[in-house]
Parts: sequence; C-alpha cells; structure tokens
Amino acid sequence: MARNKYDIDEELEKGFDFGKLKRSFVYIKPYKWFMIGALLLSALSSILALVTPTLLQRVMDIAIPDGNRGLLTRLSFLTLGAILLSVVFGALRGVIMSYCGQHMIYDIRKDIFDHLQQLPFSYYDSRPHGKILVRVVNYVNSVSDTLTNGLVNALLDLMNIVFIAVFMFAMDVKLSLIILSGMPVLLVVIFLLKNVQKRANFVLNNKSSNLTAYTCESIEGVKVSQIFNRQQENMEIYSRLNDVYQKAWFKSAYLNNAMSPITENLKQLVLALVYVAGILLISPSIEVGVLIAMATYSSRFWQPVVSLANIYNNFLKTTSYLERIFQTIDEPVDIKDTEGAKEIDNIEGNVEFRNVSFEYEKGVRVLDNVSFTVKKGESVAFVGPTGAGKSTIINLISRFYEPTEGQIFIDGVEIRDITIESLRSKMGIMLQDSFIFTDTIAGNVRYGKLDATDEEVRSACRTVCADTFIEKMPDGYETGVTERGGQLSQGQRQLVAFARTVISDPAVIILDEATSSIDAETEKLLQTGIEHILKGRTSFVIAHRLSTIRNCDKIMYIDKGRITECGTHDELMAKKGDYYRLHNAQ
Ligand SMILES: Nc1ncnc2c1ncn2[C@@H]1O[C@H](COP(=O)(O)OP(=O)(O)OP(=O)(O)O)[C@@H](O)[C@H]1O
Ligand SMILES: [Mg+2]
Repeated sequence: MARNKYDIDEELEKGFDFGKLKRSFVYIKPYKWFMIGALLLSALSSILALVTPTLLQRVMDIAIPDGNRGLLTRLSFLTLGAILLSVVFGALRGVIMSYCGQHMIYDIRKDIFDHLQQLPFSYYDSRPHGKILVRVVNYVNSVSDTLTNGLVNALLDLMNIVFIAVFMFAMDVKLSLIILSGMPVLLVVIFLLKNVQKRANFVLNNKSSNLTAYTCESIEGVKVSQIFNRQQENMEIYSRLNDVYQKAWFKSAYLNNAMSPITENLKQLVLALVYVAGILLISPSIEVGVLIAMATYSSRFWQPVVSLANIYNNFLKTTSYLERIFQTIDEPVDIKDTEGAKEIDNIEGNVEFRNVSFEYEKGVRVLDNVSFTVKKGESVAFVGPTGAGKSTIINLISRFYEPTEGQIFIDGVEIRDITIESLRSKMGIMLQDSFIFTDTIAGNVRYGKLDATDEEVRSACRTVCADTFIEKMPDGYETGVTERGGQLSQGQRQLVAFARTVISDPAVIILDEATSSIDAETEKLLQTGIEHILKGRTSFVIAHRLSTIRNCDKIMYIDKGRITECGTHDELMAKKGDYYRLHNAQ
C-alpha cells in the first residue's frame, strides 16, 4: 500500500545548526541575571556538598579520637548547616530555573502566536493546521528545559572539567594525559553520530507533525467521517501514522541513548588505563597515594564529560525544535504595510480595479484582467458560476491576497499605499463561511466593535433580524456559543456574523453569500435591513439567489475569472445573455 497522503514531510529550507541555539539567546537574555544567579547557587551547592566529607574526616580523625565534645557538636552543626544550605540552594535554583524556563517559552509562544496572527491567508491555505499547532504547543514546550537547566549544567560541567583538569595536571602530567586520551575518541564518536542523530530528530519531528495534523483534521471532520462510516479507514490511516511515528521515535531514542554507554565505557576504560599505566610506572616515579588520587580524578573528570554528552544530545533535539519554531517566526509576512503607507481616516468608497489578474498558485489564473470602477455609495453584485472568482475579487479588495498583476485603488489611492489596519478597519467583510468564536452571542457580535454598548449590539442584531432567535435562547445575548457555533443553526450563525459586520459601521461593505443559509421568508424580512445598511455605503454583494441582488446598482457576471457582463438587472435581462439565462433558470 502506498504511503498515505497524510504522511507528507515538511522540508526545511535552511540546514540545521547550532546557530539556532545562539539565536535563542534573544529569549534567554532577559533572564540572564536569574540564570547567573542559578549558576552561582548551583556552584555553591556543589561546593557545600564537597565540604561535608572534609568535615566528616575531621570528626573521624580529630574530634572522636580526642574525645572533643565541643568540636564534635560544632562539626555536627556545621555539617547539618552545610547540608541544609546545599539543599536550599539546590531548591532555589530549581525555582529560578522553572521561572526562567516558563517565561522563556511564554515569550517564544507569544512571538509565534503574534506572527501567526499576521501571516496572510495564503500561509494557512497551504498547510494543515495541525502542523502549525504542533509548533506552537509541543515544540515550544520541549525547549524550555534545555534552554535553562541544560545551559546552566553545561556551564557547570565545563567549569568542573577545567577545574579538575588543573588539579590533575598539577599532580601528574603523564597520567593526566592518559585520562584525557579518551576525549579524542569521544569527539570522533560525536562527530560520527551527529548527522545520523540530526536526521533521526528531523524525521521524528516530521512524523509527530503529520500525526498531529491528521488528528486535528479528523476532529474537525468527525461528523463527515461518521456520516460515511469512515471510522475503520480512519483508524487504519491513524495506525499507519502512529507506526511510523513510533519507529522514528525508537530510532531517534536509540541513537540518542547510544551516547551514554559509549561515554560510560570510555570512562571505565580510561580508569583501567590509569591503573595499568600507573602500575607499570609505579616504581620509582610514582607513589601509591598519587595513583589513587589520580584514579579519583579520572572518574571526577569523566563524570561531567558524561553529563555534557547527555546535555549535548538534548541540545541536538532542542535545536531541531528551535529550527521549526524559528522557521515559523521567520515566515515572511508577504502582505504588509509598504514603506510610507498612509493611514486613512475616512474613505468615501470609490473602488477601482485596473487590469487585475490573480493566481493562487503560479500559472493558474483565477482572475484574468479584471477592470471596473465603483463610485461611492454604489452597490455592486457579483454573480456567476461556482469557482468563477467572485470571492477572490473581494479577497483582493481587502488585500488578503496581492494581485499578481494590475492595481486596486480606493478613493484614487492604490491600496498597497494604505496601511492594512486602516484599510480593513473601514471595511465590513462577511466571509462565505461564518466563523463563530467561543464566547457569548453578544461577544461574537462585539468582535466587530469592541466597545459597542449593549444597545448597539441589540440594534445591529435587530437590523439583520437576528433578534428574534437570540431573545428566545436560554440566556439571550449572553448565551454561550462555541468555536463551531455548536448551539446555532447554519443560518443563525450567518445572522450573528452579519450583525458582527454591521456593527463595525464600515464605509465599504462586502457580503459573500451573507444570506445563503437563511430561509426565504427571513431573507425577505432581512431585505429591508440590508437595504438600510447598504444605503450610502459602497457595497459588494455576492449571492447565488438572484432575488437578493436585483436592486443593486450594478450587476457583474463573472465567468472563469472575467467580467463577461455588467449592467443593471433590467439591462442584463434585456441583453438576454448569461445573466438572463441564470435568472430564468431560477
Ligand atoms: N486558497 C486557494 N488556493 C488555491 N486556489 C483557490 C483558492 N481559493 C480559490 N481557489 C480557486 O480559485 C477559483 C475561484 O475561487 P473563488 O472562491 O473566487 O470562486 P467563487 O466564484 O467565489 O465560487 P463560489 O460561488 O463557489 O463561492 C476556484 O477555481 C478555486 O479553485
Ligand atoms: Mg465564493
């Protein structure tokens, strides 16, 4: 069976490197003093832990043989104090590290989310939402430990290594060199493993991303799956994705775990070498005491090396997460304010399309040389077959996509020269699918105008005839609704979305199939409301039901991305062309 279409891996543009870690210093920097504090605490805690054996030695060698009770008490209290302080410092470090870690991932998450809010429609068109989700949630959560504890421990270990090396070399150079002889071997191992580990982490991330993407899609499409009894097939697809994820996980885990037995063995091997060499050298140049001390140093030296090797593995993994996190943050915002873009306070609502062509995907023309002018206050309707390009035209007016060719003007100013925020704030756009947020009904309406009073919310709902059904709901305007608008019918969702558009009091109003799910009777009632809303505003209305657009000042018939007919209802009827045929068919 072919690998399924849900198992498509993302390729990353830039190679993976530790430069990514360097970049994460932006997030570490604000907490650098905390981190330094934690480092000091850890160092103190280690030193205190080292003090206790000397205290014990003094108890055994001095206090007890001398029968010195005073010294014994003092030493006992000192030991207790050292242990307590060591524990307190350790705990404090833990608290500081969690504080830093959580704040760092808070900042990273905030930056990704902020960026996601700005990315254009096209970004979301081209990838499953689950793949975006996994970056914001899973990957971000996974980097905090390495960026905090990993970093601090790496520094501590490095310090330890240098510290012990100095002591070692001061005692015996030859044996020290033997202890160090394991290092080149370790470096070769790291070098050899690095690329396979990188690859394995990369594959693992892809598989986890594919699995999440499919999970998200299945949840979103669960109703359709159940209607078509697709549970079995879905389970199979899921199992396949689950399998490859599991395999990738094991592979990555084996490779990452390979490091620890290797370092552990090296540690023991080096220790053996020290003894062998020591015994061979023992007379006359070496004393037994030195040999024993060097053996201790050897394990002391290799302890932080082993721990560094583990931290290194975590860095590898973290880098592979950071890679994806930064890739999302770096995703270019194609549609942004151009330099010198102007803020517009008021717009009259004159709209002009000049030779506009548009492609969603390179080479596939969706709009072909569209030109028209609309004067302020005019209402324009777009009609035409499904997929003709009607929604695309209105997506261009509000600059959700950029024309491939040609220009769009509002009041004579090219929309590229207007700040996006001020442009969109003057437009009321009701998209073809009415999204309802998890909030109350009033909250959803207020999405269009944050500071709207209760009365304004009511009045907007009255205008679109939504008041009747809302007032019948258990908590009226305060009834809670969920993301998919669970409690509302399709038509009711449309009415709420409509009210949301109306309340923003836009100069240009765009309605894409605003009333398609509403029954004919309500629509008739709504008609007066709509006419009232459209009065004095430039408006673009898309409707398949021609009765709703009959009175528009201009009707444009769109076919295959071109305007094939344009005129009033009567003119187009008299022309007996496409519009006439469409009208009669209804
Ligand atoms: N996000 C997209 N990415 C790629 N192609 C798209 C995208 N959206 C629409 N298209 C293509 O562009 C063409 C025009 O789509 P558009 O949504 O403008 O049609 P429409 O006239 O609004 O149709 P309908 O009446 O069904 O809403 C369609 O053929 C469609 O395949
Ligand atoms: Mg459409």
